[in-house]
Amino acid sequence: MYGNIVILSGAGISAESGIPTFRDCNGLWNNHKVEDVATIQAYYQNPKVIHNFYNQLRKDIEDKKPNPAHFAITRLQHEYKNGTVSVITQNVDLLHEKAGNVNVVHIHGQIDQSVCMNCGKIITSLEDTSVETVCPFCHIQGKMKPNIVFFGENLLSLNQVQKLLSECRLFIAIGTSGAVYPANTFASNAKYYGADTIEFNLHETINHYDFDNHIVGPAGQMFPPYVEKILKQI
Ligand code: OAD
Repeated sequence: MYGNIVILSGAGISAESGIPTFRDCNGLWNNHKVEDVATIQAYYQNPKVIHNFYNQLRKDIEDKKPNPAHFAITRLQHEYKNGTVSVITQNVDLLHEKAGNVNVVHIHGQIDQSVCMNCGKIITSLEDTSVETVCPFCHIQGKMKPNIVFFGENLLSLNQVQKLLSECRLFIAIGTSGAVYPANTFASNAKYYGADTIEFNLHETINHYDFDNHIVGPAGQMFPPYVEKILKQI
């Protein structure tokens, strides 16, 4: 049976927890255009809008609960003994952590963090931020940015991701459209290094050739039985 397992999650894994996905809402995120709230240019042009948007998003997802797909990962991490089980997530919500998942790499940042654009230090807090916020490290005002990777910025933890992909034997994508680079190259990357690849989605994605298997349906229903199957095989 497999060695290390890597799970790549996207917005679809949180859909059954009541958090809307990005590309299923007519290009609007909470009624905002992507280019207004998710590009680095937008942050520099109008930081107030960015702060307000992510303050609101933090409130919107604060009470959201993990669903059976997140909990199935916790189970896999506890019971799988043939290697490590790591999660690479594009989601800024913290539902993996809330479900008890460990080894979670947040490549697109996380909603409970801000980064100081002056000194680069990361602050973890659920408090609102604004253009008045002062960095507790360098004490400069007005340089805090939500620690969300915007279009035009580099992905976080790429070296760690490369290592995980090159060492995994099973790559599982859950609820990601495959529309955003470079996460949409991870499956083919893992395959190059010899991993089996499988995707869980409501439908086959544009990257379906990168996957050996496709499980079509809601992740909260389809993923727990798959974990059961893997655990039975070891
Ligand atoms: P998308 O909104 O692009 O895709 C969500 C995917 O989840 C779609 O392919 C849906 O078919 C699938 N889906 C929806 N509900 C599902 C369910 N219950 N079970 C299984 N699959 C389901 O979201 P991402 O692929 O995560 O970046 O988007 C990638 C990135 O685009 C995001 O991280 C975001 C955005 O730019 C940042 O915020 C930095």
